[in-house]
Amino acid sequence: MTWLITGGAGYIGAHVVHAMAEAGERAVVYDDLSSGIPDRVPDGVPLVVGSVLDGERVARALTDHGITGVVHLAAKKQVAESVERPLHYYRENVEGLRALLEAVTATGTASSFVFSSSAAVYGAPSTGAELVTEETPCRPMSPYGETKLAGEWLVRATGRATGLSTASLRYFNVAGAARPELADTGVSNLVPMVFEKLTENAPPLVFGDDYPTPDGTCVRDYIHVVDLAEAHVAAARALRAAPGRDLTLNIGRGEGVSVRGMIDRINALTGHALAPTVAPRRPGDPANVVASADRAAAELGWKARHGVDDMITSAWAGWQRLHPAARGG
Ligand SMILES: NC(=O)c1ccc[n+]([C@@H]2O[C@H](COP(=O)([O-])OP(=O)(O)OC[C@H]3O[C@@H](n4cnc5c(N)ncnc54)[C@H](O)[C@@H]3O)[C@@H](O)[C@H]2O)c1
Repeated sequence: MTWLITGGAGYIGAHVVHAMAEAGERAVVYDDLSSGIPDRVPDGVPLVVGSVLDGERVARALTDHGITGVVHLAAKKQVAESVERPLHYYRENVEGLRALLEAVTATGTASSFVFSSSAAVYGAPSTGAELVTEETPCRPMSPYGETKLAGEWLVRATGRATGLSTASLRYFNVAGAARPELADTGVSNLVPMVFEKLTENAPPLVFGDDYPTPDGTCVRDYIHVVDLAEAHVAAARALRAAPGRDLTLNIGRGEGVSVRGMIDRINALTGHALAPTVAPRRPGDPANVVASADRAAAELGWKARHGVDDMITSAWAGWQRLHPAARGG
């Protein structure tokens, strides 16, 4: 099969492209480079520069490259920005997906479609210390999370109407890098936010230490981007093997790590000893969000292999490449 990877010049998308190529799948990247970096695309993989909103351009890419499957990662992903710019997020994430699905069905090219969803679809699940399963009610708390849930509905409805095999992968907290050049360049997740503070020789921030968790700080499920990329390869193969499938899967490790626990490991692994400063809770931050990874294991035969130490050390190498001031740490 030949896969069109939208957003393939992005942080996660580039890891998916590399994993696909290493698994012997043909890949073509489609990306508007709004946050993507062309150098992340491996040699020999074609890069088509365009927006998923441009249905005609997507349709041409689908037919010109003989595409038979799509992995759709292209999206805007900043939760706070989505609160300020909901129309932009609905346009890019929902209308962009609709235009892409229309191009896929109109050209009759792809038979499989893998969609990047997010744990943000769950919002603040009231599971207490229980794991979040795919049956946990979805109550997104931001326009970003809403666009991902609406995206799942759109993908599933299109699959039912047209026979397209579909999978929505709900990523938990993604971290790490396969190699420094592929690292996340944004500072919107915990690991780079802590790196930024350490580089400034400032204490990292913890938002709330009075949650009902073992050390009082929020507990999350961190997943190495290399494991996440392998989950896409497994999902792509599962769809190919069984036409007409409709999968919704959590992609996490099924293991929680507290914010304080992550900061301790980051300090230890980067040679720092900066005690965190405790700030007030942020509104809407749930105490505990940890995936049940059982369904992904059963449906895909996939399981995460990397722990948080691998995530931190590989992300730190990428951070140091971008921020020479951090090398002395
Ligand atoms: N990073 C995370 O922690 C996380 C967690 C859950 C879900 N996700 C989802 O994973 C996907 C990839 O996220 P990422 O972290 O790699 O982000 P990223 O910003 O690095 O990558 C997004 C890519 O999509 C491209 N893009 C954006 N809008 C486009 C458009 N209209 N047309 C074509 N290309 C477009 C960008 O140029 C970029 O290359 C997104 O769908 C995101 O919502 C990310």
